Amino acid sequence: MEDRADIAVRAHCLRVATWSSELAGAIGLSESERKLVKEAAISHHIPEILVDDRAHARLLAEMRLEAAWEQPLVPNDVRVVLETLWGRRPISDPAMGKIVAVLEISDDFDQYFESEPLFDDTDTPDQCANSSVAAMLSYLQVPSHGDVSRVIDRLPVFPRAAREVVRQAMNPNAGPLELEELAATLRGSFASPRSHHIWNHSLDVAEAAQMLALNCSITVDPAQAFLAGLIHDIGRLAFSNMPAAFLERFHRLTDGGCPAIEVEMCLAGRCHGEVGSETLEQWEFPPDVVEAVRWHHHPERSPLALTALCYLAEFMTDTQEDLPSYIRLNTACRRVGISMAALTELGHQKMGGLESLRFAG
Ligand SMILES: [Fe+2]
Ligand SMILES: [Fe+2]
Repeated sequence: MEDRADIAVRAHCLRVATWSSELAGAIGLSESERKLVKEAAISHHIPEILVDDRAHARLLAEMRLEAAWEQPLVPNDVRVVLETLWGRRPISDPAMGKIVAVLEISDDFDQYFESEPLFDDTDTPDQCANSSVAAMLSYLQVPSHGDVSRVIDRLPVFPRAAREVVRQAMNPNAGPLELEELAATLRGSFASPRSHHIWNHSLDVAEAAQMLALNCSITVDPAQAFLAGLIHDIGRLAFSNMPAAFLERFHRLTDGGCPAIEVEMCLAGRCHGEVGSETLEQWEFPPDVVEAVRWHHHPERSPLALTALCYLAEFMTDTQEDLPSYIRLNTACRRVGISMAALTELGHQKMGGLESLRFAG
């Protein structure tokens, strides 16, 4: 069975390949150079000794073993790129310089997000990662800040429904029927077919957040948890209305294994948590709900139990919007007072009590 660490490295290599290919296209590398960059990225964690034919042969001879394969592990042109990347041969020409730079920037960029949970507010990520992030943003960012704001403003149906939802959420005696009514009020805002999966996921997260509120040792209002879960990804709804050029690049990257949070930060400079919280602020949602939505992928940045609850509810629904992080999971569990074992147990419980509100498909 494949080790967890192997799975994580493979996923990282895949993401670096996807970022590299996109970046290579953006800076005008040819189709064949783009293919080469992608193949090198896929292999960039192969142990150096397996790529170096002579060292590999020497190792096998010392161990009195024979090579199990005739072909080299990676094609020759990929090996040259990898050896240049690892500093074992000089950069041969300007094209190779660009190929190696694309790989380095993409690798640093992905590692920046992998290590982000380790930063606290006083930390600044190292200079190398900073310049890679800046390079990635400058080459791949599609819309201006203004575009994102325009998209947020272009959700005309929602404010009326939102006012009604806020009114309903203030009901201190809200039971299952009232919460279902609250969800029904918002459903119409996700009527566009491309939003259906976001709505169905929102129902899952609302249920999971409510269940967590009922089972954690910190007091969190289950109705408020339900509301926060229901609208936690409203920023994704805004992003789904972005211009075609943005959506094209967004889907190419997410289809290639890059999580939505990384892609949003790269293409728009903000993630859906931030965009969603700005929307909810305008619509005068309760401040705790606004904060929980803002940081639902960064629970370490908010002291609220509601934020941690939203993070855990996302985790329980296996949404893959962000890189998995044991540190964040642990932080969130501790904040709401639930053990990992209890969380896993809750994850096995059947949800789906809001079937009538789901969209088909
Ligand atoms: Fe989500
Ligand atoms: Fe999310």
